[in-house]
This record gives sequence, structure tokens and C-alpha cells, in this order.
Amino acid sequence: MESNAQHWDDIFDATEDARLGWYEKDVAPTLTMLEMIPGWEDATIFLSGAGTSVLADALLAAGTRLVLNDISAAALDRLKERLGDGGNAMHWLCQDISQPLPPDLPAIDIWIDRAVLHFLTAEEEIEGYFKNLRSALRVGGHVLLAEFSKDGAPKCAGLTLHRYSAEELSERVGESFSLVSCFDHTYLNPNGDPRPYIYALYRKGC
Ligand SMILES: C[S@@+](CC[C@H](N)C(=O)[O-])C[C@H]1O[C@@H](n2cnc3c(N)ncnc32)[C@H](O)[C@@H]1O
Repeated sequence: MESNAQHWDDIFDATEDARLGWYEKDVAPTLTMLEMIPGWEDATIFLSGAGTSVLADALLAAGTRLVLNDISAAALDRLKERLGDGGNAMHWLCQDISQPLPPDLPAIDIWIDRAVLHFLTAEEEIEGYFKNLRSALRVGGHVLLAEFSKDGAPKCAGLTLHRYSAEELSERVGESFSLVSCFDHTYLNPNGDPRPYIYALYRKGC
């Protein structure tokens, strides 16, 4: 059976960025949330599944440092080709985000996940994900989760999804996180089909 990493590599190898079913030319919904975090331009930001998103370009241009993770080496290679090695501003990681993160990661101020978490469907994967998130993020840091909402499509990239409500995201991040903002956003994919997302931003307390 094809591995999850191979599945994603095959998609990135076969598809140009603008044809990917989640391609965003404009990352305004994410930037709207970031603007609510004082001093976000000085942050170290973790991208749980960076893909080939132009969000990375926008964040680097703003002055942030990035930890760029993805399960797909093909996606990261394409992103590296575009962004260059980035010196100290970029830390590359290629792993399944449901598995324990390496202990030598820089302290994370902001964790951003757009359309990655919802691909984890087994309970132990979801728990592994939130364990990583809680341990990597510093106290006072923020997490932005942007996932297919309950009204969203049941599948993407040929995979079944776990879709989220704001209530479930709040429950999953846990009691030490407080909700900063939350909104619904309907993304139009390259075929013009509506894909409803829930965006939720949390701050980690003590
Ligand atoms: C729908 S794409 C979204 C990419 C990017 N976040 C964006 O908004 O354009 C999902 C991404 O998550 C990555 N991915 C899927 N499962 C993953 C996992 N378990 N761990 C890490 N990355 C994963 C895929 O390789 C892909 O790049």
C-alpha cells in the first residue's frame, strides 16, 4: 500500500501549484488573523504542513523566522527551490506531524495549520498532533487552525477528512488556550468550487 508521504509526493510531482485543490494566490484570511497578534512580524512561526504555499513567502517578507514542516519531501524541495535556503531564517523539517517532533526545535511563537490537521483521522494521530502543538508552542504563543468546517467537503486530495467545528477545535487545544478570534471562510478552489473553512486563533496561557 502507498505510504502517506508517497501519496503527497505523487500529487506534488504531478501538479503545478496553481492547479492544486487548495492553492491560494491570496493568503489574506491567515494574515487577518496574524494582524491580531502584537509583534507577529518578529515571531518564529511553525508551519505544520507548509506544502508549496505562498504564505511562506509572505511571512519571510514580513520578517518572521520559519520552521517549515511537511510530510512531502517533493513539496519541500519545490519550496526550497523558490525560497532559497534562507540561512538562519528557515529551519526545514520533513515528518508526519502526528509523530513526536525533534527536541532541538527553536521555541515556537506561532503555529499555523491550514488544511493539514483535517487529514489526520485516527484518534491517536490527532492526539499526537495536539501533543506536539502543546509542547512546541511557548507560553503566550498563538495557534491558528484553518480546517474544513462541518459544512466542508468530506474528502480532499483523495483522502477522507476529519472536519471541525470551533467547539471541537477549542476542546482539542485544551483548557490552557483561550480563543482570540474565529470566523468562517469560504475558499474557492481552482475549479471554482466552494470549500468552507473554519479559522480559529488561540493564545496559550500558563
Ligand atoms: C491541502 S495541503 C495544504 C498545504 C498548505 N498548508 C497550504 O495551505 O497550501 C496539505 C499539506 O499537508 C501535508 N501533509 C499531509 N499529511 C501530513 C502529515 N501527517 N504531516 C505533515 N504534513 C502533512 C501535505 O503534504 C500537504 O503539503
